[in-house]
Amino acid sequence: MPDVLKAANPGLVLEFAPRLVQWQRSHGRSQLPWQHTRDPYRVWLSEIMLQQTQVSTVLGYYARFLERFPSVADLAAAHPDEVLGLWSGLGYYSRARNLHRCAQAVVSDHGGEFPRSAQGLASLPGIGPSTAAAVASFCFDERAAILDGNVKRVLTRVLGFEDDLSRSAAEKELLALAQELLPAQGQDMPAYTQGIMDLGATVCQQKKPQCLLCPMNALCAARAQGQPERYPVKSRRIKRSSHSLWLLWAQRADGSVWLERRPDQGIWGGLYCLPVFDNEEALAQRLTPGQLKKAQVLQPFLHVLTHRDLHLHPVRLPWPQAADLSEGGQWFSQPKWVAAGLPAPVRKLLLSA
Ligand code: ADE
Repeated sequence: MPDVLKAANPGLVLEFAPRLVQWQRSHGRSQLPWQHTRDPYRVWLSEIMLQQTQVSTVLGYYARFLERFPSVADLAAAHPDEVLGLWSGLGYYSRARNLHRCAQAVVSDHGGEFPRSAQGLASLPGIGPSTAAAVASFCFDERAAILDGNVKRVLTRVLGFEDDLSRSAAEKELLALAQELLPAQGQDMPAYTQGIMDLGATVCQQKKPQCLLCPMNALCAARAQGQPERYPVKSRRIKRSSHSLWLLWAQRADGSVWLERRPDQGIWGGLYCLPVFDNEEALAQRLTPGQLKKAQVLQPFLHVLTHRDLHLHPVRLPWPQAADLSEGGQWFSQPKWVAAGLPAPVRKLLLSA
């Protein structure tokens, strides 16, 4: 798309990037542990962890990961179970599996060095165009536009972008406009990219944006219209859903618990977990009448995911020392399950005993 925005709104194209860069340097976040490094391994790790996850949650995981895997080669050489174990509680576990695959691809196909362009980065497992642009701009000063949820909000408001972002054509158009707004100089890209994220996270919030504090307030179309919250326009929003799952908590006298590995696809994909059932009947069918009599139905509890409320129903059962539960699982002693990649609510449940 040839400079559509420059023709329509030359002032915005001229002023947006310099204002943002200046604002980032004086008001943006500056103490995050993945800032002040140009090491693509560290930046990539942070960007993957920060997808759909808040900064405050990521901080501890990020430090533990880097302590255990100081380099991409260390991560590539790890056992997948250990990577999932360290990821346990961060959610969206396909990220952890792709993280490991990506590290292995960097080592085996790129001599242990991350590609130095957004295009090269986006060819790696688990790195989408926006993450590739973030890493390339932070580490290599590439003029590549990111477009995550925060950035879409900032841009649609400043531009008064009315098109429905549920349509991929509209998103593509917004990306082209984002590219036009980038700073002229690559050296400003790290501050610019961090700045647009910071503005979305701390000022241009979804509800009650703080327009008085915003460096773009004089340029912002949505503010001029008096209704910034109207943007981004999105007709198809993901509806929250609610789901119940039953968990069979079989435990031997020595404290060990029976865990099975979840299929890669679906909830808690690839993690070790108590056997999961869609309903009480399915769980009961797994047990003999004698076992069923000894089963104790515990208090159900709620686990809130981004788009779903999970109602978890644990059923606890003492288990004879010798017998196994089924094929496809194994007994985990306490130290073993503490280190394994368990879903956060299951870990919490086991620790509550
Ligand atoms: N979210 C995604 N990337 C981020 C970053 N670099 N800093 C803060 N939040 C982010």
